[in-house]
Amino acid sequence: MTERLRWGIMGTGNIANQFAQGLTGSLRGTFTAAASRTQQSARGFIEKHNQQASAFEGYDRLLDCKDVDAIYLALPNHMHMDWTIKALQAGKHVLCEKPIANNASQAAAMFQQAKVSGKVLVEAFMYRSHPLHHAIARHIAEGAIGKVQAVRTSFCFKVNNPQGNIRFSRDCAGGALMDIGCYCVNFSRHYTQAEPVAVHATSKRNADGVDILTTGSMHFPDDVLASFTCGMTLHADNAAYICGDEGYITIPIPWKPPVENATYTLNRGTPPRMDQARGTQAAGPMCQEIVIDAKRPLYALEADDFAAVAMDGKPPTITEADTLANMRTLDHLRESAGVHFAGEESGQ
Ligand SMILES: NC(=O)c1ccc[n+]([C@@H]2O[C@H](COP(=O)([O-])OP(=O)(O)OC[C@H]3O[C@@H](n4cnc5c(N)ncnc54)[C@H](OP(=O)(O)O)[C@@H]3O)[C@@H](O)[C@H]2O)c1
Repeated sequence: MTERLRWGIMGTGNIANQFAQGLTGSLRGTFTAAASRTQQSARGFIEKHNQQASAFEGYDRLLDCKDVDAIYLALPNHMHMDWTIKALQAGKHVLCEKPIANNASQAAAMFQQAKVSGKVLVEAFMYRSHPLHHAIARHIAEGAIGKVQAVRTSFCFKVNNPQGNIRFSRDCAGGALMDIGCYCVNFSRHYTQAEPVAVHATSKRNADGVDILTTGSMHFPDDVLASFTCGMTLHADNAAYICGDEGYITIPIPWKPPVENATYTLNRGTPPRMDQARGTQAAGPMCQEIVIDAKRPLYALEADDFAAVAMDGKPPTITEADTLANMRTLDHLRESAGVHFAGEESGQ
């Protein structure tokens, strides 16, 4: 392997463009090739991002390319399993977009293939590569907010034209839970450092049967609770809150923190305070803002985290266990909300 990880990008849609753009800030990665269903789109993609890269019509041809070490898989959810397995069989490492598959059993099959092939497979939850989240995890571990008791998140946006959008399609394993609820679930599990023992979700569904708005709850051991709202037809604050018995953390932009001036606040108590005797002063400030500079684009950080795994053998930020547990929780939430994909009703 060369000194820089040579990336092949599979699919030329929305996130593929963001990743290719981010790669320009990577310290250890190079955009080497792209594949699309059409030559025209593959060519347009490399012309935009790197004219030296190869453009392939058909994803198979990318897997045949000897100059590619790792695949960034940016296809619709229902295509993740098959193309990840093919890529691993072709001897490529794979960074697969979230959610890694339709369900946990597909995800398990993908990691099984990674073991057989001796290659790295990681789910692309890029937000966790931002130093903002490393700082928050450190603060919580140091006891800054005491024992975490509740987590509250939201991730919503409004799609103006759902027609043809993969997120609104049951065949593409779409839906709000899969598209953005997966972040809320991952965040809640990450910051409680636990797996839910019970979940519940209630959804508004479209005519195709996927959820376009979901509110969910997760009950963790020790009665730690998490709640979230995700939706694709509305606006929300998209903030996250981690609440402990000594204070709480507010993260205004948790999912795609900016490169510069990413912030979170450490808060101690909100009015009305029931724990403070009349006339006494609370120790320390009520609210402290912490500012973090990532220095490089989010997708560059993600690519370099992946390079450290593939090239140096470092453990991934998003481990196999994390991904499988996240998918199991999504399966249970979808079950609760009554959202099923093709083949799942018969228990496949
Ligand atoms: N991490 C993040 O920040 C983030 C953000 C958005 C999405 N995602 C994830 O990334 C994946 C792709 O999302 P996206 O927003 O990039 O979607 P998108 O804009 O629709 O792009 C998907 C690409 O997949 C290819 N494709 C192959 N078969 C297709 C089919 N039947 N229908 C539609 N596209 C097909 C197309 O590329 P070609 O025409 O070039 O073959 C298309 O451009 C999803 O798994 C999504 O959850 C992650």
